[in-house]
Amino acid sequence: MTAIVSLCIKPAVDLFCRTERLIDDGKSRCRISSREPGGGGINVARNLHGLGVGVLTVFTAGGANGKQLQDMLECDKIPFHRFEIEDDTCQNIAVTETSTGKTYHLVFPGQQLREPEWQNCLAYVNSLDPRPEYLVLSGSLPEGVPDDFYGRIAVDAKEKGIRTILDTSGRALASPLKTGVYLAKLNRGEFVDSGYSGRLDDYQSMLAAMAEMVANGMAEALIVTLDAEGALLASRDGDSLHVRPPATKVVSHVGAGDSFVSVLVYQLYQGKSLAEAYRYGVAAAAAKVQMPGNYLDDMELVETIYQQVGWK
Ligand SMILES: Nc1ncnc2c1ncn2[C@@H]1O[C@H](COP(=O)(O)OP(=O)(O)O)[C@@H](O)[C@H]1O
Ligand SMILES: [Mg+2]
Repeated sequence: MTAIVSLCIKPAVDLFCRTERLIDDGKSRCRISSREPGGGGINVARNLHGLGVGVLTVFTAGGANGKQLQDMLECDKIPFHRFEIEDDTCQNIAVTETSTGKTYHLVFPGQQLREPEWQNCLAYVNSLDPRPEYLVLSGSLPEGVPDDFYGRIAVDAKEKGIRTILDTSGRALASPLKTGVYLAKLNRGEFVDSGYSGRLDDYQSMLAAMAEMVANGMAEALIVTLDAEGALLASRDGDSLHVRPPATKVVSHVGAGDSFVSVLVYQLYQGKSLAEAYRYGVAAAAAKVQMPGNYLDDMELVETIYQQVGWK
């Protein structure tokens, strides 16, 4: 059974490579570490599939990179529904400088979608049968896709009682939050884009604003991530929490937010409370920043960090 569907309207092929030092105005000789499927919704599906959950990812892809993306998902046996598009899917690059341990993530604007392409995808997601329990809307919108794309999905999901998890940014945010989703995960910048104008180091004010957004129906639960400081949670059930992970050596932020969402949805699906699932999400992101690549494959580390995540 497909319990969880994750939509990836803007996927990518992610190339991970390393070089000793990035040379200014010269050649930086790189070695390829891995080439992986990428894009929020696809990262979430890979992690959930690895956890043994019935998940389907719906994505749009075209050209040589689109074919490569599909081949990689087939190889990993990830259930998917692909919408073929005319433009070539983009390739993003994450370069790790081994002398400093810093990772530079180069993200390209990517493919443009024609109206019939996104309309087909929208119609498919809005007629999923059987209905999933959770629908993850993850990633930014490609050019050509209207601002209210996620909002149109959220309206339909709400009517059907599907729990929508939103993880997006910029112009894609306002419409689904206006409709109201089950859960939205924002970083500080996205929180500002959603209307917050106070200080970003005053967690009490942030929690108060989040509670107001929840009361206004934007989401039943709202999470704002704070990097090394953990994350805040406000919910309709009255949760108002701040949890912090232990200090962590950062290798790469790539895929950390998607790991947060994957493990959070997984724990909710397993019947954990929102507060517990969110604490697991913070632990998953803290585990993911310690490893390269897109895929979270060390659940033991997540469990260890979970035990150390402190409530405030
Ligand atoms: N040093 C760190 N220690 C623990 N967790 C971190 C650290 N830096 C970032 N994170 C977590 O990684 C995740 C990054 O994802 P996200 O909040 O979606 O940010 P972005 O959208 O900017 O990538 C967040 O959950 C964040 O709290
Ligand atoms: Mg994010």
